[in-house]
Amino acid sequence: TLSTPSIHRGLAGVVVDTTAISTVIEESNSLTYRGYPVQELAGRRSFEEVAYLLWHGELPDAGQLTEFRARERALRPLARTTAELLTRLPRTCHPMDVLRTAVSLFGAEDPAEDDGSPAANRAKSLALLAKLPVVVAADHRRRRGLDPIPPDSSLGLAENFFHMCFGEVPDPEVVRCFEVSLILYAEHSFNASTFTARVVTSTLSDLYSAVTAAVGALKGPLHGGANEAVMRTLEEIGDPARAGEWLAAALAARRKVMGFGHRVYKHGDSRVPLMQQATDRLVALSADPGTARLAALHTALREAMAARTGIHPNLDYPAGLAYHLMGFDIPSFTPIFVMSRVTGWTAHITEQLAHNALIRPLGAYNGPDQRVVPAA
Ligand code: SDX
Repeated sequence: TLSTPSIHRGLAGVVVDTTAISTVIEESNSLTYRGYPVQELAGRRSFEEVAYLLWHGELPDAGQLTEFRARERALRPLARTTAELLTRLPRTCHPMDVLRTAVSLFGAEDPAEDDGSPAANRAKSLALLAKLPVVVAADHRRRRGLDPIPPDSSLGLAENFFHMCFGEVPDPEVVRCFEVSLILYAEHSFNASTFTARVVTSTLSDLYSAVTAAVGALKGPLHGGANEAVMRTLEEIGDPARAGEWLAAALAARRKVMGFGHRVYKHGDSRVPLMQQATDRLVALSADPGTARLAALHTALREAMAARTGIHPNLDYPAGLAYHLMGFDIPSFTPIFVMSRVTGWTAHITEQLAHNALIRPLGAYNGPDQRVVPAA
């Protein structure tokens, strides 16, 4: 007789492998990258240094950082064929579709007949880190009927992204808030998109295929797509005074309130306090008369959610508002998440390959009993 297998829907609580890249420390509710608290990294280091740390296991020294920055800047320009192909995609398609297609094209145009070694994969990862912001910025402008602005190799990754989107670099404090968001978004262990990248890698497929699949996984609103959904929710509610009644109706209809809840954190996302602080700073810096009201609505919804459900916001809740205040349109929020998370994905791809096991779980069959195919 068959024993009933235990089923772990959504793989909740299942530990599938070891990782040395990041961990959540429950007692202090902190997140560490290679052992360093992300809050300290966000206060003291650039996003480029964090990318280096995730890939190499250690922070770069001054010489290593100079070389790393120079290589990132040199790798930014897109191949002309890729840039042209991307402009032929329908202007109405979601920027995550553009990005997914871009990563796939990068794979097709990479002539490397390499061995998939860690060094070869690190080189590809750096190229993705350099090129993805160029794609996101060009697409941000394309949606407005504007020509792309080429990357400026005198600017760091965060500043250059603003330059390519808007033709100018904002107040250094705004750039710093953006950089904090990139550092906080960079890596989060076996989340759905990272796990997707590991599944693809486990078949010994290539890095671009794994990252293309990861972009697809991140797009969904239960995962990375939530930062866009947060802003749409705020737009839907419109008025701080309506937050309570809107929430009551949403919960009664069993709607998920975007930007709240988390599979791992049940007492609050470790990254939220720092991101909320950055968002508060952006609110204070904003010259837009509508900002105070939007910030009040953001607070009112969070407080109403806490009072009614006790469910805490996740990183997407403050990040969604922050990206709006920085001037990005809603569809570019999840692509910005990709620009950052590509560092974590690729670190996991290298780690998966270092001690690979094909990922292939079982399903408990609950379909019809075996039967005879009737004669046609
Ligand atoms: C990210 O894994 C990662 O690390 C992800 C991430 C990363 O850095 O990679 O942190 C990034 O994806 C953040 C999550 C973004 N998603 C959202 O904001 C979408 C809204 N959130 C929920 O759908 C939900 O909280 C999830 C998907 C994030 C987590 O889902 P779980 O772990 O499967 O939990 P659940 O849906 O089973 O919730 C448990 C209970 C349920 O109630 P009961 O059925 O037990 O009565 O809490 C309720 C849920 O209905 N609940 C919510 C809710 N989140 C949980 N109810 C309303 N709104 C919510 N947001």
